[in-house]
Amino acid sequence: MENPTSAVNPERNSSWDTDVLIIGSGAAGLRAALAASEHTSVTLITKTTLTESNTHYAQGGIAVAMNLDDTVALHIKDTCAAGAGLCDAKAVEMMVSEGIPRVAELLDWGANFDWEGTLPRFTQEAAHSRRRIVHKGDATGRETTDVLIQRVLNTENIHVLQNTFAIDLLTDAGTSQEFQETATCYGVTAIVDQHVTSIRAKSTILATGGLGRIYPCTSNPKVATGDGFAAAWRAGCEMVDMEFVQFHPTTLFLDGAPNFLISEAVRGEGGQLINIRGERFMERYHERGELAPRDVVSRAIQIEMELTGFPCVYLDITHKPAEFIHERFPTISETTKHYGLDINIDLIPVRPGAHFMMGGIRTNTDTETNLKGLYACGEVACTGVHGANRLASNSLLECLVYGARAGTNAAAFAASQPSHPPDILPAGHTETSQTPDLDFIEAVKDAVRETLWENVSIERNGEGLRQTLAELKDLTINLGNVPATPAPNDIARIEAVNMLNVALMITESALERTESRGAHYRADFPTQDDSDWHRRILIKNNNPPKVISLE
Ligand code: FAD
Ligand code: SIN
Repeated sequence: MENPTSAVNPERNSSWDTDVLIIGSGAAGLRAALAASEHTSVTLITKTTLTESNTHYAQGGIAVAMNLDDTVALHIKDTCAAGAGLCDAKAVEMMVSEGIPRVAELLDWGANFDWEGTLPRFTQEAAHSRRRIVHKGDATGRETTDVLIQRVLNTENIHVLQNTFAIDLLTDAGTSQEFQETATCYGVTAIVDQHVTSIRAKSTILATGGLGRIYPCTSNPKVATGDGFAAAWRAGCEMVDMEFVQFHPTTLFLDGAPNFLISEAVRGEGGQLINIRGERFMERYHERGELAPRDVVSRAIQIEMELTGFPCVYLDITHKPAEFIHERFPTISETTKHYGLDINIDLIPVRPGAHFMMGGIRTNTDTETNLKGLYACGEVACTGVHGANRLASNSLLECLVYGARAGTNAAAFAASQPSHPPDILPAGHTETSQTPDLDFIEAVKDAVRETLWENVSIERNGEGLRQTLAELKDLTINLGNVPATPAPNDIARIEAVNMLNVALMITESALERTESRGAHYRADFPTQDDSDWHRRILIKNNNPPKVISLE
């Protein structure tokens, strides 16, 4: 590997040129890099280290229709049922069927998943009609990224730049709406090594993952501040399904401990939810009990917390043998032990936390966005594959399938382009102001998290959404935009702007959708309304939300 931090190309005056630029080192970005590198040279940039991503922390596994009693049709059916009528049928079919060779290939590349005889050991997760989750204990993400990273580092024409923070896309969009319809993306501006630079590319893939960190309670790591969603939106990308944020039912709620995820696989293996009164409650909410869809379980926990006036419920796996728990859930056992909890004998205090974004940059199944030369894959993208609610363990599958497709397509586009992209300014910002005080920036981030948790989380209503919208607008005025000429120490400030941008998109979309569906629950419109709302909401910078029909 070349020096991973030497981003400045002296010949091109503080800029770096590449054929395909990939932003993000989760499963989607890494898989895209491998696919693109079969055809051309690639630069992969990542905000901190190669291993820091949502993918790295994935626990449960990868859903794939490989078990003997399973079929592609059944996996499609379960995915679409969880998606509550909004899944894109073509995208789902592609993910489920192409997922089989993508997972087989990962195993070929050395992924050391758990086996039982001649087959992977399939586990069960919520709303799956079959045991179809392949996994490595409860550390599937770490195993997956280890394999992909090793392969990336062994590929000569992939150049990795760590600690490289993407700010804004370089486009020729200008400011006029008409121009934006045919705009082209030529890379990004970035902060690397305390240095602001342009990374110019013939094609660019956004694989920047999720946005859980805009909420105070989340399973996501610190890097997940929604940067890619915000940069794409500022550059004129179409964003869809932004009201659908998934809350995982069980994140650890323990004094002094982070909101560490307690995998759904714990319930898949028989874990039971009980409230502070010792009552098992899930049967009252859904026929599938603990294995009901995530939105149902999260809402049930929220209701139980309100009914009992207690800030969490408990997950009980103590009836399973200690050896089984230790072998099946080593990471969860060790992490909870570190905080003084022995899950063989203790109940696990849990409550829901922000986990996954179903919406994102609108793409087709070729991962193309509405900007020429810009592709998106993984959690930041929205092919419509998850609809209004994602089925457990379908995200890593999506990353492998659409990551590979993005890499191949972006490489083909790059091959059709002239040798060097033009000199271009980043997507429009007008003001430059002094970097605000760090305490002020942190206060803005906290205020975003607080208002979203209060009004735009598991349960929403019109009044709360309008209040949050007003608060977000005030905070935006106070903080300002991304500066036209960012300073090397502007990362926290830009993250705060990004958080505000995505919070606005989510809140506006949630206000627009006057029904309840999947992960979006409106207390003032508590039922699903198929006559009006079997449709999607599209958001574009400087435009009011637009309702569009399913394709
Ligand atoms: P990520 O893996 O999040 O990678 C995004 C990358 O982009 C990171 O490297 C990040 O540093 C980089 N980045 C972000 N912003 C910038 C920027 N401004 N500049 C440069 N780089 C940037 N899904 C499943 O299918 N199965 C599971 O078992 C599962 N378990 C999960 C457990 C946890 C705790 C979490 C948080 C998620 C889990 N998910 C699971 C969801 C799944 O892991 C993610 O949706 C998926 O890994 C997203 O992959 P990605 O490649 O799109 O993004
Ligand atoms: C989990 O292990 O519960 C997370 C699985 C997922 O998000 O798909």
